[in-house]
This record gives sequence, structure tokens and C-alpha cells, in this order.
Amino acid sequence: MKDECQCGHSCLEANDPRFEELSKYIKSLGETTGIAMSVLQQAQHLFGYLPLEVLKFISKEIHVPVAELYGVATFYSQFNLTPKGKHQIGVCLGTACYVRGAQKVLDKLREQLKVEVGGTTADGRFTLDATRCLGCCGLAPVMMIDGEVYGKLEDVSVIPDILKKYE
Ligand code: FES
Repeated sequence: MKDECQCGHSCLEANDPRFEELSKYIKSLGETTGIAMSVLQQAQHLFGYLPLEVLKFISKEIHVPVAELYGVATFYSQFNLTPKGKHQIGVCLGTACYVRGAQKVLDKLREQLKVEVGGTTADGRFTLDATRCLGCCGLAPVMMIDGEVYGKLEDVSVIPDILKKYE
């Protein structure tokens, strides 16, 4: 299989087998009305995000305008229109974390990774996001990388070493 393009733009081949797989999934639903959410979820599962080519493909298959699909994809935060990095970083901005210095954690990560919140690093390694309470306020301030929690980050100088584990 071809390597994933790292240019940050969508470069899908028209004969990418995932289109065929998506088409089969749509047929398996047996109808074309009211299925946009399910199809978008399946498309994101297959492609990792929802580039324009995929929205156009779905539009043709289920007879829903691209603009409408785009509207759904941008409204729900579960959908990504751009590729996500290999590792997902979430910095908790809940109250407990915020009062204990979450902003400093976020600023350190932005500086270290040279990326804004919601963005992905140029090498495609990390996506940085701010999140709501992660449910471990006793460890505030907290960040999560790929589901692993790092707490008590008042001293942000430890952050570069944590990131190194993912390089
Ligand atoms: S406020 Fe950050 S874990 Fe609860």
C-alpha cells in the first residue's frame, strides 16, 4: 500500500480502495435517506478525516449536496476536516486545571511544537487540542496524550521530556 502523503493537503487517489469499502457500507444500509451521519462516521473511520474528495463521493452516493454534508461535518466536533497527527494531545482547560496553570501548559506546548490549538505539527506527529475536564482534577493541571494522563504539570519544564517519549 502507498505511504500516506505528509504534505498536509488531501491527496487521495480516485482508485483508493477505501472508496469501494465506503460504497459497500452505504449499500449495506439499504436506503439513502437519513443516513448522512452514519456514512460520515464510517468515512472518518476509514480515512481518518473527511477531505473534500470524500464529501463529494458521499454526496454522489447518497444524493445529498456537498454543502449539506460539509455543514454536518463542521457542526459536530467528532468530525475532522483535516488530517490529525499521529499523537493527540489534549490539555485540560477545566476549572481546577485552569486555576493551577493549564494556560502555562498550553503555552509551553504551543511554543515547543510550534503549533496553535487545534493544529497539527508540520511533521504530522502531534495534534494539540484544549479539552474540558478529564475527570482527574486531583492531578491538575493535566494533559492527556493518546489517552495517557500526565498530571501535576505546574512545572512546565518537564513537558519536553514527556514529548520525547512520542518521537
Ligand atoms: S479540571 Fe482538569 S481534570 Fe478536571
